[in-house]
Amino acid sequence: SAPPTFRPGLEGVPATQSAICDIEGQRGLLTYRGYPIEQLASYSSFLETAYLLIWGELPTIFQLREFEQEVQMHRRVSFRIRDMMKCFPASGHPMDALQASAASLGLFYSRRALYDPQYITEAVVRLIAKIPTMVAAFQLIRKGQDPIQPRDDLAYSANFLYMLTEREPDPLAARIFDACLILHAEHSLNASTFSARVTASTLTDPYAVVASAVGTLAGPLHGGANEDVLDMLDQIGSIDQVEPWLDRAIAQKQKIMGFGHREYRVKDPRAVILQGLAEELFQRFGHDAMYDVALKLEEVAERRLGPKGIFPNVDFYSGLVYRKLGIPRDLFTPIFAIARTAGWLAHWKEQLGANRIYRPSQIYTGPTERGWLPLESRP
Ligand code: CMC
Repeated sequence: SAPPTFRPGLEGVPATQSAICDIEGQRGLLTYRGYPIEQLASYSSFLETAYLLIWGELPTIFQLREFEQEVQMHRRVSFRIRDMMKCFPASGHPMDALQASAASLGLFYSRRALYDPQYITEAVVRLIAKIPTMVAAFQLIRKGQDPIQPRDDLAYSANFLYMLTEREPDPLAARIFDACLILHAEHSLNASTFSARVTASTLTDPYAVVASAVGTLAGPLHGGANEDVLDMLDQIGSIDQVEPWLDRAIAQKQKIMGFGHREYRVKDPRAVILQGLAEELFQRFGHDAMYDVALKLEEVAERRLGPKGIFPNVDFYSGLVYRKLGIPRDLFTPIFAIARTAGWLAHWKEQLGANRIYRPSQIYTGPTERGWLPLESRP
């Protein structure tokens, strides 16, 4: 038979079967368990969407209230983890702090009952509840403060913003933030989710699954791009600099951050929604001149890159939303991780349901068999 073809980046190679999320890249359609992302972003909450992703159906009111309550009860993290975080260098990247803290959860909870539905539910609840607390804790710790405790009267997103900023957020800000989490919760077999599934397939614990995915999300070609977009807009500086900057960047074969996607040949539907959310925030809390630079860049880039199917992706407008909410730039990717934890856990659970360890093959390109030479005989 013909030798298998090698596809760099596994482009177009199905690596799993999955019933969680579907993307139609030509139409710009994204669905979670069949529900279009536009509907979920408008009507759902992040916790309801997480439930849908992980258990496959929208919860009943009883199931939702129970899940919300469980998550609320598990928001606190052990003082041992907080103390460990105090030893992290304040100059370190919050994604590295999050990866280490997420992995440390495995030290506290047994890994014996992987296939017990109760164990799965508890792990889901703990991770969804504790990841935001750890992100907020590192933010305060690196400023030299003690982390503050979660507040039981605040819902998921409002509580996270409270723990991060030490102020109760405006309800509109909390609602928009929650919608951002919904938009980032899942996106089929992206790099971090693939990483989560590979880790899950060894039957290790879910904390290791999430920690490996956090490490994968951190890179600038994946989740890290949202931080880089604002640096890029800063560098461009003003509307009149957009065109010459883009000409130079394209001539130097530089990747434009926040543009392009393996799956979409049109504008990412999440970017469309995020742009709307950004505009809602500007109306309420004041305009941001950086948005004008972004709009101009999208317009000019559409002419230059649009014909190649390169349009804004989810990261292009998310940074502008977070900036308006007063969130520091290096927390954008950890926030992506808070949201994507729901998707990773859905894939963990699905992987366990039909598991076979990932062990692909390779095409060997090294030297053929040869003999070892003593040191003095080497050329
Ligand atoms: N700017 C300029 N050219 C681009 C860009 C871009 N952002 N993205 C792709 N291209 C060009 C690329 O140069 C190549 O051109 P050619 O065929 O002439 O060599 C062609 O499009 C195909 O690019 P590729 O890098 O082979 O595409 P990929 O599917 O391997 O990569 C990507 C996808 C998202 C990594 C890439 O588009 C990229 O690096 N974008 C910038 C980083 C970014 O915004 N990442 C966030 C992705 S969305 C959120 C997430 O999943 O984390």
